[in-house]
Amino acid sequence: MLGRFFNHQKETQAVDVKTDVPVHVAVIMDGNGRWALKRGLPRNIGHREGMKTIHSITESANDIGVQVLTLFAFSSENWLRPKTEIDFILRLPERFLSSELPKLQANNVQVRVMGAVEDLPSHTKKAVETVMHETADNDGIILNLALNYGGRSDIVQALKLLGSDIEQGRCQIEDITEDMISDKLYTSDFPDPDLLIRTSGEIRLSNFMLWQMAYSEFWFTDVLWPDFSTEDFAEAISVFQQRKRRYGGV
Ligand code: FPP
Repeated sequence: MLGRFFNHQKETQAVDVKTDVPVHVAVIMDGNGRWALKRGLPRNIGHREGMKTIHSITESANDIGVQVLTLFAFSSENWLRPKTEIDFILRLPERFLSSELPKLQANNVQVRVMGAVEDLPSHTKKAVETVMHETADNDGIILNLALNYGGRSDIVQALKLLGSDIEQGRCQIEDITEDMISDKLYTSDFPDPDLLIRTSGEIRLSNFMLWQMAYSEFWFTDVLWPDFSTEDFAEAISVFQQRKRRYGGV
């Protein structure tokens, strides 16, 4: 894990301590399609509006002091959608790059991407590589975009890496620890999410960061992602701050 993070989790591990600002917030940005359909618009317009929400919430998270904001932008199961919708979503990183890069730089945001990026179309890969490269030296909030990401495949790729370490004699089966698995996940640089937000009224994880969310606090709202405001985000943070995290203690 990168040394830059102040990890409240470690501080509060023992018992019942009131939590502060979450270090890592994860968001399932749901409801774009319904937002558009409610207005008689094509679903893709909902995704375009959803991209605008990314900007306002990143700024707000940065202001609040969140250190990592992970957004579920495209899941490994989203390939089941109509091709036109997939093509549209996978063009959004290019739009994001052209419309957001100056603001990301001004706000000192570092963009990272996690998932099976190698299987994305070359134009998407190029856009994400460019935005990561251009923002690599920024040391403000990390905006971590989950693209072609699935929680189970994250664990599978981690186990393959660990298996290869065993095969090469770099570690022994009996020495495997939870930390060693965490260190092979796409999120190895980050602490586990403290808070998960899901918009649009759906109450499920949808294969998002299954290993990493073992002790995350969950907050759900009926608000559709394109309508999700900085006030809604502040409410989620405030609810989180009322929660007592016990990590299995009493
Ligand atoms: C879920 O809503 C949303 C998505 C599958 C895509 C989310 C993507 C963005 C908001 C933009 C990504 C931008 C970048 C820069 C990567 P849904 O379509 O499932 O909504 P519905 O449940 O109402 O149909």
